Amino acid sequence: MKIILKSSSPKFILRRLVLGDSQRWLAMHEDAESRRNFNSVPESLIEAKKEIKEKLDMMKKKKGVFFAIDSNDKFIGFVGVHSLDGESLDRKKAVGIIGVGLQKEFRGKGIARRATKLFVDYVFKKYKLGKISGRCRGFNKASVKLMEKCDFVFESRHKKEAQKNGKFYDNLYYVKAR
Ligand SMILES: CC(C)(COP(=O)(O)OP(=O)(O)OC[C@H]1O[C@@H](n2cnc3c(N)ncnc32)[C@H](O)[C@@H]1OP(=O)(O)O)[C@@H](O)C(=O)NCCC(=O)NCCS
Repeated sequence: MKIILKSSSPKFILRRLVLGDSQRWLAMHEDAESRRNFNSVPESLIEAKKEIKEKLDMMKKKKGVFFAIDSNDKFIGFVGVHSLDGESLDRKKAVGIIGVGLQKEFRGKGIARRATKLFVDYVFKKYKLGKISGRCRGFNKASVKLMEKCDFVFESRHKKEAQKNGKFYDNLYYVKAR
């Protein structure tokens, strides 16, 4: 498996996401926090495979980049960006939106912060993205802190934009320009 980016502290590597990550992709979405924070979560291995296939397809079309985070040769999470406007990431000044998630037992150790920083620098260098947006639910304190720690700037609060299980939530938008 080709290593794309490497961190020595905390120790992990970033590599391309593969279909073989499906089982652990499913496990990463199983805890209450993930279920609350993501718009949708896979409920079965078939759904997890479908999600990964969609991401691989986006990568092929240069509409997204998704890396797995591995610790000790084991998938523990992901970091990725997809193009908000549906255009190719190679289009000049395209706008991407970032996503990140970790297996529960690896949270709170500085992994997401380091992985996001490495990843953002990498995609800004590699593609023609003009900016990357971050969107999180108002109540997702870990995600909000992550945006701030990775030097994303708060842009706006969209009141009651997100809906889940009949309830409405505010979305917070952050941005980092190249
Ligand atoms: C959001 C998520 C990726 C953050 O990953 P993480 O590895 O725990 O984050 P880090 O350890 O790098 O922490 C980044 C900052 O957030 C803070 N933080 C982490 N968890 C927190 C929490 N639950 N409440 C408040 N602050 C928190 C950390 O203290 C750190 O700030 P610091 O440098 O001042 O100490 C992780 O919590 C997760 O996978 N959550 C479930 C999925 C999710 O919500 N994804 C985002 C959807 S938009």
